[in-house]
Amino acid sequence: GKLAATDPAARAPDGTLDLPHRLRRNRRADWTRRLVRETTLTVDDLIWPIFLIDGEKRREPVPSMPGVERFSIDEAARAVTEAAALGVPAIALFPFTDPDLRDPDGSEALNDQNLVCRALRLLKREVPEIGLITDVALDPYTSHGHDGLLDGERILNDATVATLVRQALTQAEAGADVIAPSDMMDGRVGAIRSALDDAGKADVQIMSYAAKYASAFYGPFRDAIGTKKALVGDKKTYQMDPANGDEAEREAELDVAEGADMLMVKPGMPYLDVLRRLKDRFRMPTYAYQVSGEYAMITAAGQNGWLDHDAAMMESLVCFKRAGADGVLTYFAVEAARRLKQP
Ligand code: PBG
Repeated sequence: GKLAATDPAARAPDGTLDLPHRLRRNRRADWTRRLVRETTLTVDDLIWPIFLIDGEKRREPVPSMPGVERFSIDEAARAVTEAAALGVPAIALFPFTDPDLRDPDGSEALNDQNLVCRALRLLKREVPEIGLITDVALDPYTSHGHDGLLDGERILNDATVATLVRQALTQAEAGADVIAPSDMMDGRVGAIRSALDDAGKADVQIMSYAAKYASAFYGPFRDAIGTKKALVGDKKTYQMDPANGDEAEREAELDVAEGADMLMVKPGMPYLDVLRRLKDRFRMPTYAYQVSGEYAMITAAGQNGWLDHDAAMMESLVCFKRAGADGVLTYFAVEAARRLKQP
């Protein structure tokens, strides 16, 4: 009966409980655990973000992200070839811009010979089978480290959108397959969509950072692209308040209406509820970004022997899938792809 577990009278004399359901039955061996598994992680779920730096034959470690390196373009081609061979479907490109090339307007973002554009052309030629995702935002290029144009201390929305549109077109022209606006200006998805269409780039997809929060977990990324020291103030007037979930739905609703092909939630692990809400509500291809700080936490704890690095890495990734993600942007992509290949 229903109360059997708590009713001492329901016990047999030998102490056996009279339980109609024993969930442990399905967990008792590896074969049955595999049989009842609800979610699987495959290499097709992985997007690898990489950092670019000027020069040749250069691989420069990012100290706050042990195991992550900034690649010169030739080295990026080598690394991306390996990722493609492992089956990773797409990469996302982020430049470390020479500080001399940064200015208040982020004008290097519009240079079709900038690091990202040169990398796009080379990668398209050398690794045509992998998808190329580019970040649209001005922060790698501005001397103040903000994603938009400033008037005094104010980030200008509409003027920034006009520049972002030009940045997106420059990237699409150089070979970007997916434009991923991460700037959080209002109206940028629609503006970029119509500009791409007008330019004959109707095939270029938009992955919108629909719900991007003003997060402390981006710290190591800002080291990696060299914006941490430069950043004046914070990004709270454009990135979302971590306390808000309803607002994430409103952001996503607008991005879907404006023509986004895919949605993203960022950061990842502390925001799985937001991911689930967006997936349930919009049924769009929806991605999580396991950001630099999440990578750093797992890696540092692993290096200290405080947790099992590989187990924590794989667990974190499958949990994104369970929470509703169609894929994950993760600095672990290549490591995870290698593990998935092991029999
Ligand atoms: C910039 C951008 C950021 C990240 C991706 N694009 C940082 C920021 O908004 O300051 C963070 C990624 C990470 O932490 O791994 N527009």
